[in-house]
Amino acid sequence: MKSIYLLTALFFGLILGCGTPKNLAEVQLKREPYLQMAFKDRISVLWQTDMGTDSELRYGTTKGLENRRMGVVEKDGNIHRHEVRLLGLQPGTKYYYAIYSNGKRLAGGDAYFFKTEPADAYAPFSFFAMGDIGEPVADGGFPEVTSYQIANREEKVDFGIGLGDIIYPDGESKFADEYLFKPMQVVLKNTPFYPALGNHDWHVNPDKNFVKEWQLPNNEHYYSFDYANAHFIALDTREGDLYDAEAQIAWFEADLKAVQGKYDWIFVYFHHNGRTCTYKEDYKAVMDLYPLFAKYQVDLVLNGHAHTYERLHPFDAQGEVLEKYRGNTDTYPAIGNGFIQITTGAGGKLKSGWAPGKCDENIQAKAAHTGHFSVIKIEGKKLEFQVIASMGGAVLDRFVMEK
Ligand SMILES: [Fe+2]
Repeated sequence: MKSIYLLTALFFGLILGCGTPKNLAEVQLKREPYLQMAFKDRISVLWQTDMGTDSELRYGTTKGLENRRMGVVEKDGNIHRHEVRLLGLQPGTKYYYAIYSNGKRLAGGDAYFFKTEPADAYAPFSFFAMGDIGEPVADGGFPEVTSYQIANREEKVDFGIGLGDIIYPDGESKFADEYLFKPMQVVLKNTPFYPALGNHDWHVNPDKNFVKEWQLPNNEHYYSFDYANAHFIALDTREGDLYDAEAQIAWFEADLKAVQGKYDWIFVYFHHNGRTCTYKEDYKAVMDLYPLFAKYQVDLVLNGHAHTYERLHPFDAQGEVLEKYRGNTDTYPAIGNGFIQITTGAGGKLKSGWAPGKCDENIQAKAAHTGHFSVIKIEGKKLEFQVIASMGGAVLDRFVMEK
């Protein structure tokens, strides 16, 4: 019996090229690894190749990468999508990793690592937020500049959230690498990223594009996750209305209700703005959510869409400025039944020929008009919000909220 196997192996070995299958050895990495669903004990590592080979992740707490895990491969046209899911990881731990296909190392080294969520809910952490990212350089885009600024921060962020319009012009997978994954690869290989959908990501069916590129919770259009003492909710504001509005709003309220009193911080993020003094209209579908933000103690509401930066004064349920917070724009106590909405939508694209002017409605606490991203740092009951210029790294805005 054993000899039959040997003969069969020899036969196929000869067919494939004398035991060193040349074609498989030439497998090319089409997309550098990126990280999803990174929590206390788990993570998903995804990448893409040109050929259908196996998926192997080698990982460990030392650069010796003492563990191995095989994943799944899915053919999709000319590319192969790889995913390895790890479970049973140690919380609050840094792991190095490398990816292999058919024994060939495709990527690995010092920059390839991930850190699991700490077990201690009061361990400090930070995340970046930006919208309107994947604009081609040829059209004036600068996603790479922002990404290098994020990647080279002295204090590394633990993950990032995307506020929609992540791939211009139409959110299509065929441009995902050129416009988003390549410019952002210095970030994505060691920083999990959780995007929301924007209107451009809706130009072509997102279920055949966006949803295939990411591994997000729930239905991936709207979802939530927890990290340390914070709860994050991503919504899908589609073209300025809400995707599957009735179901999404019901889900949103149920999700908010379920986390009341369990977390110190609640963040809601999506693409479109509500009231604004930018060049965008006030989106009613977003303003209709204000009573929920206020009622369920949402702290920050983050959006993109306008390619600029704008921080509004704290609002009440009706979207009116809470007058007692108007005077001091650098520090806030717990706002209670009020929230701060911020447009941070120039991650890779800036509105040209426009500048923030006088805000007639007097709702604006701060504005800045340059490429940027935001960094939110949580230390227990203290939040520090900073806006960083993509070019040069200057701090454009900063405020603190303490509960
Ligand atoms: Fe947009």
